[in-house]
Amino acid sequence: MCGIIGYIGEKNCVPILLEGLRRLEYRGYDSAGIALIKDGRFHIQKKAGKVSDLAEAIRLLDGTFTATLGMGHTRWATHGEPNDANAHPHWDATKKIAVIHNGIIENYAAIRTKLVRDGHTFTGKTDTEVLAHLIGVMYEESKDLTTAVRHALAEVEGTYGLVVLSVHEPDKMIAARKGSPLILGVGEGENFVASDASAIVDHTRNVVYLDDGEIAVVTREGFRTVTIDDVSVTKQVQEVTLELSQIERGGYEHFMLKEINEQPETITNAMRGRLLVDQGNVVLGGLRHVMDKLLCARRFVITACGTSWHAGLVGKYMFEQIAKMPTEVEYASEFRYRNPIIRSDDVVFLISQSGETADTLAAAREAKAKHATVLGIVNVVGSSIARESHGGVYIHAGPEIGVASTKAFTSQLTVLALITLMLARARGMSEADGRVLAEEIASLPDKVRAILRNTETIKAIAHEFKDTPTALYLGRGANFPVALEGALKLKEISYIHAEGYPAAEMKHGPIALIDEAMPVVVVVPKDAIYEKVMSNIQEVRARKGRIIAVANEDDDEIEGLAEFVIRVPRTYGFFGPIINVIPLQLLAYYIAVARGTNVDQPRNLAKSVTVE
Ligand code: AGP
Ligand code: GLU
Repeated sequence: MCGIIGYIGEKNCVPILLEGLRRLEYRGYDSAGIALIKDGRFHIQKKAGKVSDLAEAIRLLDGTFTATLGMGHTRWATHGEPNDANAHPHWDATKKIAVIHNGIIENYAAIRTKLVRDGHTFTGKTDTEVLAHLIGVMYEESKDLTTAVRHALAEVEGTYGLVVLSVHEPDKMIAARKGSPLILGVGEGENFVASDASAIVDHTRNVVYLDDGEIAVVTREGFRTVTIDDVSVTKQVQEVTLELSQIERGGYEHFMLKEINEQPETITNAMRGRLLVDQGNVVLGGLRHVMDKLLCARRFVITACGTSWHAGLVGKYMFEQIAKMPTEVEYASEFRYRNPIIRSDDVVFLISQSGETADTLAAAREAKAKHATVLGIVNVVGSSIARESHGGVYIHAGPEIGVASTKAFTSQLTVLALITLMLARARGMSEADGRVLAEEIASLPDKVRAILRNTETIKAIAHEFKDTPTALYLGRGANFPVALEGALKLKEISYIHAEGYPAAEMKHGPIALIDEAMPVVVVVPKDAIYEKVMSNIQEVRARKGRIIAVANEDDDEIEGLAEFVIRVPRTYGFFGPIINVIPLQLLAYYIAVARGTNVDQPRNLAKSVTVE
């Protein structure tokens, strides 16, 4: 999630904070804000929009917006639309404490309910404002800011990188980290807090990397670090050696590679606070009010574009095979113009990372006009599709900067799996069966991590085929959309023509393309149709095609049939696409890097296609 910078020292921090926020813009955001402490009181400017909008608002002030202690934030909304009220910082009830936060407070609703019962009122809809009020409550008990933060965080579930300032103790910043990056910058008579070194590298290269569960008390003179239980922690000051551009990409060469490697965390975020493993069930707040529509629906229609459409195709398998819901999947661009027969007892799901894709938004409006229940599976909070839907589920993948979608795809699939389990349980699946599925969903991040740790084979395959003029991707069942997605990734970023096809359908035409030069990528997990796909592999071999198999770790037959084998962990059939797509993302990435294309901004492509 987005950006944080804090400063305490002798200089006017406003230009430092604004420049730091500009350096953090690459992380994607929708709002920005700054809080200063001067003469014993807060001075705050915050608004939806760009850092430049915030800077302009500050420029128009009377020149008194200066201080030597302050903090800045860029927000990527997860709870509460991107608007001025929801922008950070957020105050506690007394307005003597201010908080900026990156991450998700999972149990904010329960905390908010209790605080409201105790008389608290909130100006916005964010989880962060609830945390600020909780810190304020704890301060009233302890009259010590560090203690208040520790006690509040002991109550919190979820992730945070945060900074707390208070006029009660205007000589320090409190920083805390759990699951969202945060570092300290150590200067001469001045110190910093930041999401990453890009925000402060102009001022100091001496940094301290906070670890999860650590809280830092930062003053002009220095810092000390404790745990939530107030156990002192000794931290090493390290020198940042990366260049600015490398820092922005988290040390990865491209945003796409960073985002591929973020997937264990982003898949975890998609299920955070939603998957109840012990109960074998799922709670999705954004669908609670439409459960009757979901359970009584005549059918589901999923409509989307590109990679999101591929996610929809996988969703069909999940919805039909596990939740027993008739499901159709359509390109949004076709759906919107063919005057589809939609009834009021249909539920139409819109899948969209950006939430702004013109064809998908038009499809949403068409479905609403025909009185269907319209639900969004979206990444960007407050986006048009999210706002115009009757409800939905945010995928919480964080900003996806690379034009070629990777982490959003697997988070879309994770949310589809959660919806599937929720519906299956509501339609009679036993707790025991639900727990089996829930445990499998919970195991996915580690299974993805295992693939990401072992990329040498994929790199070798990429080197072998980086100059191929074409490629064929084959898969069956829920892995047919994985073949489509693998082919799309290769097309998008390496500009090599590739085609995804149902493995059995290959006989009805594309087999004519196969010769000894043709790389054929086959997704062949050991599922119910494994033997069928193995037969298709034999058909390719008979034409001397060069077979690259994505196969399970315990498959000992595939070695004799495929020229290259990429091993992936086994999982429950319909969750397989979340695992099986990872090697195909990496294969496309390494081939594109070998070909020297612009991996993050491929030619002709836009991250959000807001035109027809
Ligand atoms: C995916 O790699 C492409 N960038 C593209 O197909 C994308 O999935 C499509 O444009 C839909 O975008 P959306 O998910 O933001 O609606
Ligand atoms: N969850 C918080 C919000 O929605 C912080 C989001 C972020 O990481 O920027 O405001």
